Amino acid sequence: MLPAAALPLPQPTPRATVRVRRLWQSIHSWGLRQAAAYVFQLDDLTLPGSSRDDSLPDGYVFRDVCWEDLVDCVATSGTTLDEYRRRWQHGGRCYAVFRNGQAAHSGWLHFGSIYVRGLGFLIEADLSTCYVYNIVTAAEHRQRGLYRNSQRKLTAMLRTHGVRRMTQVVMATNVIPQIVLPQLGYRLVHSVRHSSLFGWKMTTVRNPAGRVISRRLFCRTPKTVFVI
Ligand SMILES: CC(C)(COP(=O)(O)OP(=O)(O)OC[C@H]1O[C@@H](n2cnc3c(N)ncnc32)[C@H](O)[C@@H]1OP(=O)(O)O)[C@@H](O)C(=O)NCCC(=O)NCCS
Repeated sequence: MLPAAALPLPQPTPRATVRVRRLWQSIHSWGLRQAAAYVFQLDDLTLPGSSRDDSLPDGYVFRDVCWEDLVDCVATSGTTLDEYRRRWQHGGRCYAVFRNGQAAHSGWLHFGSIYVRGLGFLIEADLSTCYVYNIVTAAEHRQRGLYRNSQRKLTAMLRTHGVRRMTQVVMATNVIPQIVLPQLGYRLVHSVRHSSLFGWKMTTVRNPAGRVISRRLFCRTPKTVFVI
């Protein structure tokens, strides 16, 4: 070990740098929010890989959820029963994979236009488009094929109900759906970048080639569309 006198002396950081750094940290903690996501779309619900009815592991049952089941699903999803009821009352529906009466996997469906608040992103659609969101497999049931297989079962179910297009938004940090969705026939249609500072928001939407399709600076959430 070197004697203390032989160690290089720490260089003092210039005061201006320290101030700029502190200001930037404050801005971050006061209100700068950033998010990036990809939008995937399934245009053909009859594609063989999209809706094959593979079986689930023993004891797991896939089905759509009724109002009375919501309370059994909420624990998996990291949200509240009030939020579940709000979604339901706006025409949303829930599907789940149950095991011993408890939801092991669940997801939500919204038909028509929807505004994704965390991205400042509006998806304009008619009722034949289903937006799938809040998909979760409970930690103790992961890596047993519940996500992949229930997406296929869901597609088959929605097809029989006349749905013609399915859309999902995946956060850029969330790798598994970015791998699985293209394998299920989804294609990447947009990337979305969002920043928000003190209530002012900016959302940039690009096509898969990276060309900017829209860029909006705004501060209000739309009132006439369902917000998630
Ligand atoms: C993403 C998520 C839904 C996957 O659920 P799951 O039921 O474990 O997924 P599956 O068992 O169907 O696995 C699908 C694929 O991902 C792979 N995978 C799943 N978890 C993995 C992990 N932790 N590490 C590496 N690969 C993984 C599986 O191996 C499988 O690939 P394969 O079929 O080629 O073997 C689950 O991890 C989760 O709930 N995450 C938190 C919420 C979330 O991210 N939701 C998705 C929002 S779009």
